[in-house]
Amino acid sequence: MSVRGVGRTFTSGGGFLKPRRHFRAVSDVSFDVQRGEVLGVVGESGCGKSTLARLIMRLLTPTCGEVLFDGTDIASLTVRALRPLRRHFQMVFQDPYSSIDPRQKVRDTLLEPFQVQGIPLTSAQASAKVDALLTMVALPLHLADSYQHQMSGGQKQRVGIARALALDPSLIVLDESTASLDVSIQAQVIGLLQDLRDRLDLTYVFISHDLALVQYFCDRTLVMYLGRVVEVLPRGATPIHPYTKALMASVLVPDPHQRHEIVRITGEIPSGYDEPLGCAFAGRCPLVQPRCRESLPILRPQTDQHAVACHVHESTILVPEF
Ligand SMILES: Nc1ncnc2c1ncn2[C@@H]1O[C@H](COP(=O)(O)OP(=O)(O)OP(=O)(O)O)[C@@H](O)[C@H]1O
Ligand SMILES: [Mg+2]
Repeated sequence: MSVRGVGRTFTSGGGFLKPRRHFRAVSDVSFDVQRGEVLGVVGESGCGKSTLARLIMRLLTPTCGEVLFDGTDIASLTVRALRPLRRHFQMVFQDPYSSIDPRQKVRDTLLEPFQVQGIPLTSAQASAKVDALLTMVALPLHLADSYQHQMSGGQKQRVGIARALALDPSLIVLDESTASLDVSIQAQVIGLLQDLRDRLDLTYVFISHDLALVQYFCDRTLVMYLGRVVEVLPRGATPIHPYTKALMASVLVPDPHQRHEIVRITGEIPSGYDEPLGCAFAGRCPLVQPRCRESLPILRPQTDQHAVACHVHESTILVPEF
């Protein structure tokens, strides 16, 4: 998938005596995801992660930009033209059951994607599919006749993953899919996702606010701040952007020798309604310089896979060190 300059503005108001207001939830986001890659997306609550996920899945239409999936711009396709392509990209939500009828059995949940796509299955084929999907996510086959209230959080999440796999997609977007699980169950689900990726040659976009988890699981990570990508961080790379550094410093390391200084982020996140002229992080950045408030830093490549949008970093690398 190749995402080019994607943005989404929400408009509110516009009624009697109410001025129309525009809220930029996602601005000018560009990135590529290669086949088989796991791309992470992190950032604080409200920074636009879920909106970005819905844009690249075309559950929401971008205000601008292109989303190329195997070369086709899914952002500009009609709903009708999009339908046959949908099976190739699927999404798993934090609570996959929030939108599912509680009276539905697991079997029906897993077969629903076939109905939506209009793929006819004989009852023998349907049973075989259900069994295969449950096996794929390491759930016992008898669970097919269970209802959601009879399952644990981890089991429900596995059903959500199985349902996403039903139509044999190549790309899966996981939006906070493990966030509500406790740590040991979360680790099992991550292990399952790694295993499925290897076996089925899947590509993931993995959204989380947990930087430590994302760094462990993902090959590259987009760090978002107020709707924009401020850093693209390859696995194991040292963060450059002050915001990513602060996020990193908030990760607890269970090793007293690795104690690091706590970087405290102070100040408020600016509102997306009146987006600042310069860097959105300027108001909270410990290294802020005058020009950070004047012009928007653009994302510049540092190495092959690492890119950062920061004026301060740019100015420090221009000054040679002796
Ligand atoms: N349909 C909508 N109409 C208006 N504003 C919206 C809409 N959807 C999202 N927003 C706003 O866009 C911003 C980004 O929301 P989004 O859900 O993408 O954030 P997020 O990074 O996923 O947050 P979280 O970590 O809490 O899930 C928020 O300020 C939200 O209020
Ligand atoms: Mg979200």
